[in-house]
Amino acid sequence: MDAGLLIVDDEEIALRNLQHVMEREGYQVTATQSGATAVSLLESQRFDVVLTDLRMEGVDGMDVLKKSRELQPAAEVIFITGYATAESAVQALKHGAFYYIAKPFRLDEVRKVVAEALEKVRLRRENDALRREVEHYRDGEGIVTQDVEMQRLLDMARQIAPTDCSVLITGESGTGKELFAKYLHKQSARAEGPYVAINCGAFSEQLLANELFGHEKGAFTGANTLKKGLIEVSSGGTLFLDEVTEMAPSMQVKLLRVLQEEEVLRVGGTRPVKCDVRVLAATNRDVDEAVKDGSFREDLYFRLNVVNLRIPPLARRKGDIPLLAQHFLLKYASRMKKPVTRISGEVMALLMDYPFPGNVRELENLIERGTAMAQGDTIEVAHLPETLQKRGGVDFRRIEGRLPTLEEQEQTYISRVLDEVQGNQTAAAQILGINRASLWRKLKARRSEGSSK
Ligand SMILES: Nc1ncnc2c1ncn2[C@@H]1O[C@H](COP(=O)(O)OP(=O)(O)OP(=O)(O)O)[C@@H](O)[C@H]1O
Ligand SMILES: [Mg+2]
Repeated sequence: MDAGLLIVDDEEIALRNLQHVMEREGYQVTATQSGATAVSLLESQRFDVVLTDLRMEGVDGMDVLKKSRELQPAAEVIFITGYATAESAVQALKHGAFYYIAKPFRLDEVRKVVAEALEKVRLRRENDALRREVEHYRDGEGIVTQDVEMQRLLDMARQIAPTDCSVLITGESGTGKELFAKYLHKQSARAEGPYVAINCGAFSEQLLANELFGHEKGAFTGANTLKKGLIEVSSGGTLFLDEVTEMAPSMQVKLLRVLQEEEVLRVGGTRPVKCDVRVLAATNRDVDEAVKDGSFREDLYFRLNVVNLRIPPLARRKGDIPLLAQHFLLKYASRMKKPVTRISGEVMALLMDYPFPGNVRELENLIERGTAMAQGDTIEVAHLPETLQKRGGVDFRRIEGRLPTLEEQEQTYISRVLDEVQGNQTAAAQILGINRASLWRKLKARRSEGSSK
């Protein structure tokens, strides 16, 4: 971001004075004495902060403010006025001005307010850029990935979603199996129908039968009313059988029969009920192994595994880590209403190096926690759990911020040289051993990092 300032003041001396001060701060300044010119500049050029006088002939400060909000909503407007009244201040703030400074002002006050406004603009622009990047990689149903294998799975999912064929989704815990199941449902012709998920590992055999098949009134003591099972309930839609390999073998037989006959017999019932269900199943176990050791029936396996989506663990698609981290950062920052937009380089390095046994869910939890803990705009090493802070014998928390990057070091040195030569860029370039254009580029890069640092 090239910090661009537009200064508007009909009083020439005041205008040139402020322009000079702001240029010395390193901003790209455009100055004009006319409100009308300011408006046409706003139509053609991007600015980050507009500093405007309030009372001017013709197009006045309020008009500039309104036009600026309309044409460049990302920019902030600051009023500087010699006719400060409580009423005009209230009006200005009501129309979205960032700040209101009364003349005569102290220069450091103006500097500070401009820096704050720029910081706000920078955060907002950074947030927008982040959002665009994540959006670029986000599928319509919220699956974020840039991984080739994942893209292949998504293509496959898109292809088979409209059919009614069963899909077995396998992958380690937290890789996104349920996300894929919902995706298949939403992309199918059954999208308007119910989506029902059940965790087969969470019920005893009898309870699971009761859940899946339902029961007739009076089927057993306590069965006071008829209860439809989830298979019936999801008729016309999708039934997602999570942890399907955890089902007792006798249940597996019953389930297979239901799937083949497309009808379900409620517990205690005599007449089967027709049902039209598309079944998706998932497991984080090795299915072949489960079939081999007899805990998962081969016939059910064949029935469910018409198509297999095998989701790779996060550690095998490390390129997704920064992208997902940003995705979750946007999600939790907005949910918690916190202005956190960054993840420090050290944190990212730690995440890239971490094996993520809990996969995407674990990453999501880390970012949620980090966002909650962050105090400024950045998630830092201190906001990670202790176990992550000290990995491989290196205490990243002690290093962070203390050892600058090469680029930071270079900028510090450039500032020092510039100080020595009172801002004379030709002299500075000579001392640094580079030409003026290179120096200018480096200074520009610094400005684009924001004025806060
Ligand atoms: N590619 C992705 N893009 C965005 N969010 C994801 C992605 N993969 C997983 N998530 C999120 O991570 C969390 C865990 O995903 P999900 O519940 O689908 O995993 P799972 O494989 O079903 O896990 P488990 O085996 O523990 O049931 C969810 O909040 C999900 O939204
Ligand atoms: Mg799951």
